[in-house]
Amino acid sequence: MRPSKQRSWAEPYKIKMVEPVKMTSRKDREKFINDAGYNTFLLRSDDVYIDLLTDSGTSAMSDQQWAGMMLGDEAYAGSRNYYNLEDAVRKYYGYRYLVPTHQGRAAEHLISQIMIREGDMIPGNMYFTTTRLHQELAGGQFVDVIIDEAHDPESEHPFKGNVDLQKLEDLIKKAGADRIPYVSIATSVNMAGGQPISLENLRALRELTQKHNIPIIHDMTRVAENAYFIKMKEKGYDDMPVVAIVREICDLTDGATMSAKKDALVNIGGFLAVNDKEIFEEARNLVVVYEGLHTYGGLAGRDMEAMARGISESVQDDHIRARVGQVQYLGDKLIEWKVPVVRPIGSHGVFLDARKILPHMSQDQFSAQALAAELYLDSGVRSMERGVVSAGRNPESGEHNYPSLEMVRLTIPRRVYTQAHMDVVAESVAEVYENRKRIRGLKMVYEPKYLRFFQARFEPL
Ligand code: F0G
Repeated sequence: MRPSKQRSWAEPYKIKMVEPVKMTSRKDREKFINDAGYNTFLLRSDDVYIDLLTDSGTSAMSDQQWAGMMLGDEAYAGSRNYYNLEDAVRKYYGYRYLVPTHQGRAAEHLISQIMIREGDMIPGNMYFTTTRLHQELAGGQFVDVIIDEAHDPESEHPFKGNVDLQKLEDLIKKAGADRIPYVSIATSVNMAGGQPISLENLRALRELTQKHNIPIIHDMTRVAENAYFIKMKEKGYDDMPVVAIVREICDLTDGATMSAKKDALVNIGGFLAVNDKEIFEEARNLVVVYEGLHTYGGLAGRDMEAMARGISESVQDDHIRARVGQVQYLGDKLIEWKVPVVRPIGSHGVFLDARKILPHMSQDQFSAQALAAELYLDSGVRSMERGVVSAGRNPESGEHNYPSLEMVRLTIPRRVYTQAHMDVVAESVAEVYENRKRIRGLKMVYEPKYLRFFQARFEPL
């Protein structure tokens, strides 16, 4: 029976083109995951049924974006698509100066090299893998100042991306404001499970940092998703369109790095955007060394056009409601079936709590890595480890970093899968959960020096 007065929403688009996916047998998958060293990053995508490895670069572009690809102006310098992108960044995000890059980590590289000096501290609302590495490679040290609730998968705090202002003040006192080149603030904090920061917290942060003359650099990779959570959860914003909330967030910060492969609905692209003219001049200088001329930064004209159009689509309420709604649908199902997941459900994926699911396994046995492999074996669904493997090693001591969150991320690409796919995923997760006692730990048999989770290899214990 229809629950009383229920009126469902649906995706604000229809499907014009399809791409077949391959079904495999369990026997096939045993071979594939073994060949891949039990690392889902090393699987061939052809051997994956539903690919929830990442929401990065995996979105479906719209007909408008594809049409824009045909309008690519492939001039080496001053492409019209660069100016369209600059217009979009100024209009929707408000940052004055734009330097396009091939993806987010290239922008992180530029800003880290420009702003960080040897021995600096960079506080932030939880680390992100590439962001922290670029801060370290520039001689800095990342310091986590996110609220404690963010490290607790069961805390229902609505804004687990918030900064603990006391932790930040203590750090400023200890290190001195002159050793803090900027505060690194992510919207929709990836490693916390896609958790938002509130405008109230961001405003208080702005006040504190301004007192000490410390700028805020914004990792705006999923800013529209964060804005949607503000609309849904923060008092006073339910009537405000997402596009306006996005702008309000950006206006409280001094510059941003963007991986446009997420929010902005493109398969490749990113940028650095800043308000400070001097930093812009330096970035424009550096980008020609590492990426390409400052009006393309490693991208084709058509890529920049798709990005400009993707940005405007990404901040529409209808789009973002369906995007986050699909993630919530999967998460709610798993909660209903009592599978331990990070709560509240985040914006870009559902994060399985491997500690809770596999209590018989220690982090040294790479429980989340083992769980991700098991899920692939069960159904061909590809997920990603976000635990001790992703956290890497402390550069000084060489020891593993042991994060309190040991998770498997089911990341939902935008506009790609249907509700039926979500059902198949949920059922496979439930099956694996029921058989969890049988899952064995792993040992790492190959470990790359940087960002080891991408290429590490494992064997079952
Ligand atoms: N910042 C955040 C919050 C990210 O999630 C990512 C990428 C980056 C920066 C780096 O951007 O990949 O374009 O160089 N995250 C992907 C993921 C890889 O799967 O979470 P990039």
